[in-house]
Amino acid sequence: MGRGSRLTRLDAFTKTVEDARVRTTSGGIVTLVSLFVVFVLVVGEFREYRRIQVLPELVVDKTRGEQLPISLNITFPHIPCELLTLDVMDVSGEQQSSITHGIHLTRLTPFPESKPVSTTSLNVHEDTASHLDPAYCGKCYGAPGPEKDKGCCQTCEDVREAYASIGWAFGKGEGVEQCEREHYAERLDEMREEGCNIAGHLSVNKVIGNFHIAPGKSFSSAQMHVHDLNQYFASTKEHTFTHTIHHLSFGPDLPANVKVQRNPLDDSRQVTQERSFNFMYFIKVVSTSYLPLGTSENSYIPGAIETHQYSVTSHKRSLMGGADKEHASTIHARGGIPGVFFSYDISPMKVINREVRAKSFAGFLTGVCAVIGGTLTVAAAIDRGLYEGGMRVKKLHQG
Ligand SMILES: *[C@@H]1O[C@H](CO)[C@@H](O)[C@H](O)[C@H]1NC(C)=O
Repeated sequence: MGRGSRLTRLDAFTKTVEDARVRTTSGGIVTLVSLFVVFVLVVGEFREYRRIQVLPELVVDKTRGEQLPISLNITFPHIPCELLTLDVMDVSGEQQSSITHGIHLTRLTPFPESKPVSTTSLNVHEDTASHLDPAYCGKCYGAPGPEKDKGCCQTCEDVREAYASIGWAFGKGEGVEQCEREHYAERLDEMREEGCNIAGHLSVNKVIGNFHIAPGKSFSSAQMHVHDLNQYFASTKEHTFTHTIHHLSFGPDLPANVKVQRNPLDDSRQVTQERSFNFMYFIKVVSTSYLPLGTSENSYIPGAIETHQYSVTSHKRSLMGGADKEHASTIHARGGIPGVFFSYDISPMKVINREVRAKSFAGFLTGVCAVIGGTLTVAAAIDRGLYEGGMRVKKLHQG
């Protein structure tokens, strides 16, 4: 038996001789319970193995030359669309004045209902101009007319643009033939009570810059960005820049399983009673991407999301000194113009949210073995305790 006996001594799994085995009812119950426990725990392990986790990671943003998408939806209950202008300016020197592309202005009935006005659009100008004699060439009153119409100002809008381009204040168009034909002054007065909703998308260079919504046409004068505030202040109705931001975001939404605070400005409201009042939002934009399972940064795969989160601080101030208040309607704003300004700055860091499996397959197997082994060991100990306890009780009764 030489070799056999040496190996026999090494056997860690000593076997009990069949005859010495006893089956008990308590043992049966313990077995059933432990099988149930094993089942529940293995199901738990499996769930954990299938679970997908989103791990955030912070890296330096190395992308260049990207555009920053902005989508906004802001309501101004006390200022008509006709007086609002949206401009973008950035440190690269690029300016987008009086943006209309991708942006939709909706006229709202007077506050507090603020429902969209049913009449079609603001641009009644084109309609009236189309009924004119084809040979008609309107005067521009000394301002350079638009190129496309060979220097003719066909509509009141054209005259206003022409005036703005050289920095002349326009007023209500008194004595301007085109505007009188279009009843510009009357329409403007009718709109005085209205509010305006600005909604849409724009795209800007991904560098420090600002976009603002301010009254009047904007133009550049001696390297300065100026707005024609004339009509804003000339009004008898108190216009103010009270506003509600329904939505402001810089890119698509992240999936709901990413725990980040989204769009801190959504549904925020700012109120003022003063005409010359300036609201500023300072926004830090952080690039954020979302990589689903199986994506790497270097290859583009559908399902990956590139977007931006932001944090914001805000500031508001009156543009008039206390002493000037009673002359509010005569003096123009000092040290700035009324409006809502958004300054944005781009963070050098980028957040990557990566989907990963919470556990590897090997980890899952290890877990299952641990569950089975552990549960059976505990069950065996309990069973032994019950059996020996039972024996002792029996002995007591007999003795
Ligand atoms: C802007 O927000 C308002 C209020 O939430 C909503 O009724 C309106 O449809 C939004 N406009 C756009 C273009 O999304």
